[in-house]
Formats: sequence, structure tokens, C-alpha cells
Amino acid sequence: MLALKSVLFSALIGTMSTIVSANRIAHHNGLSVHVYHLAPEPVLYQNSTDLSFSPTAFTLISGHHSAVLVDAPATTGQGQEIIEWIAKTIPGKSLKYIYVTHGHGDHFFSAGVLQQKYPNAKVIATKGTAEHIAQQYTQPFFDSFWAALFPDKIDTKPISVDVLPEDGIFKLEGHDFRAVSVGQGDTYNSTVLHVPSLDLVVGGDVVYGDCHQLFAEDNTPELRAKWLDSLDKVAALKPKVVVPSHMREDNAYSPDHVDETKEYIRAYEQFLKESKTWQELEGKLKERFPDRDGTFILRWSCQAPFGADF
Ligand SMILES: *[C@@H]1O[C@H](CO)[C@@H](O)[C@H](O)[C@H]1NC(C)=O
Ligand SMILES: *[C@@H]1O[C@H](CO)[C@@H](O)[C@H](O)[C@H]1NC(C)=O
Ligand SMILES: [Zn+2]
Repeated sequence: MLALKSVLFSALIGTMSTIVSANRIAHHNGLSVHVYHLAPEPVLYQNSTDLSFSPTAFTLISGHHSAVLVDAPATTGQGQEIIEWIAKTIPGKSLKYIYVTHGHGDHFFSAGVLQQKYPNAKVIATKGTAEHIAQQYTQPFFDSFWAALFPDKIDTKPISVDVLPEDGIFKLEGHDFRAVSVGQGDTYNSTVLHVPSLDLVVGGDVVYGDCHQLFAEDNTPELRAKWLDSLDKVAALKPKVVVPSHMREDNAYSPDHVDETKEYIRAYEQFLKESKTWQELEGKLKERFPDRDGTFILRWSCQAPFGADF
């Protein structure tokens, strides 16, 4: 049921080569990128048993002897799954950083579980994300939202975060990694991770793949316009490889996701104006974007403007 795909990009040559095998890493110098695709996870929401949390992609960027993981999953079980994958993917290398893209718990709750296996791994984030991370553990929010969705599956001990300098730059074996604070994504204080030597952007929840986008927080035209502006900032980085955090396993790691994320925002804006009920809005989005995964996020994003959510 849980899907695994490993993809390797070589940074040594000008053109990106994609090798679908974890075993090839040792034969490359420079940086390598692997992506783990966590399968959709069932959630409990409003007595509904058929909704699932969107599939989530975790990016591991490794050098000769150390690595950076971008985000950590929500549940402890998913964290264990990532630990096994890292051990298989970069045997003998140390995990130096867990970089958190933004403050939604599905991108960091299991970081402490990972640190039990990799005690030297530091969790790093921008100041805005570090503050948002702390907020996710506060009551009654934590219990009414996260613990309700994933009962007894989430580590309740808050993770500790090292705040990055203002310029967002950190290094792995001499390569610059930059947390780019774009502002609004599907939440406030969002970032994407830019690795110039790989022409890589890890999109967090700013750039989506084929998954329904979250609008529960982006509940005004102004906030949705800000999300569009953030996507322009991502495009300006001119990445050749883009890994959205919520994507389907069969999606390409393509910069096209930037425009497709905009298209979804504009469609949501239009359908919201045309809909009188959340059911109508959900129907229109499903019809327009039949390939997108993430039935829980779709339901929540459609109910929120009609006041029928949490
Ligand atoms: C869920 O089920 C309970 C018990 O049957 C009911 O009281 C409640 O209204 C239901 N909630 C929703 C959102 O349908
Ligand atoms: C986080 O976002 C809020 C809302 O957009 C903004 O007011 C605040 O300055 C941001 N904080 C940081 C540290 O970037
Ligand atoms: Zn997310």
C-alpha cells in the first residue's frame, strides 16, 4: 500500500539525468536528490471514513557524507517509514539537517522520531516557520485538529527548531541551500527551498502537484492573490526541477507545477463565485481537476467558505 520511488539527479553534468535506482548514488560525486512518496493516509473527518490525507513527497539531498531532508511526515509510523528509506538510500551518510518548509504539522511532527535515529540532525526553519511550528502544538487546536484527524498517531512532544539567519542560507558540503521566504502559500510565512547548484526548488505547500490545494486559510481574494505572487517568486528562481510537497507519485518533477498551481487558484476563485453550496464547489473542482488526489483537503477547502468545516 505504501509506495516508494527513488529518483536520483546528478548535479555534476549540466543536463539532469534521472535514474530510478537508489543504488546508484555511490557512483556520483556532488549532490544527489532522492524523493520518497508517502501514500495517502486515511483520516477521520466528520464521521467520514472514505477521505484521505494527500500524498506527500519528502526530498533527501545528499553529498559525499551528509544529507538534508526536506520536511518530516505527520505520524510516527510515517516517520519510521522515512527512517528506513533514508537508511537504505544513503547508507553510512549522516543526516545533518531536517529543513521544514512551513508550519503545518504534516511537514514536521515526526522530526523528533527521526532524531532518535539521527541524533545529530538539526531541525532548521525560518523565524516565521519556527513560530508557526510552535503554534501547531497549542491547545485546543492540536487536539481538535491534528489529534482528531490522526488519533494516537502523532508525537505530541514539541520539536525544537534552530532558526536560520535572515538570508535563509545554510550549507551542505560547500553547496548553498536557501530558504526562500515567499510569504503566502496555502498558509502564512511559507518558504520554498532553493538549491542553485541543482537548479532545484522544493516547493513545500507553495507549489502543488496533482493534489487538491488547501484554501481553508486562504479565505479571501487578497490572500489567494498573495499566493499567486508567491508563485511568481518561485518562477523567478528559474528552477529546472521542482518537487511539490503534495504531488502524485506519477507526476514529473517539473517547473510546470508552478503554472498549474496558479491555474487551480484561479479556478477555485471562479467556482467559489458560481457556487451556492460547498457540494457544488466540490463538484466543480472534481470535474475540472479529475486527476488530483487529496479528498480530505478538497472537502475542507470547499466547506470552509460555507462555514461547514471543523
Ligand atoms: C457524526 O456522528 C454523530 C453521532 O452519530 C452525530 O451526532 C454528528 O452530528 C455527526 N457529525 C457530522 C459532522 O455529521
Ligand atoms: C509571518 O507572517 C505574518 C503574516 O503575513 C507577518 O505579519 C509576519 O511578519 C511574518 N513573520 C515573519 C517572521 O516573517
Ligand atoms: Zn502540507
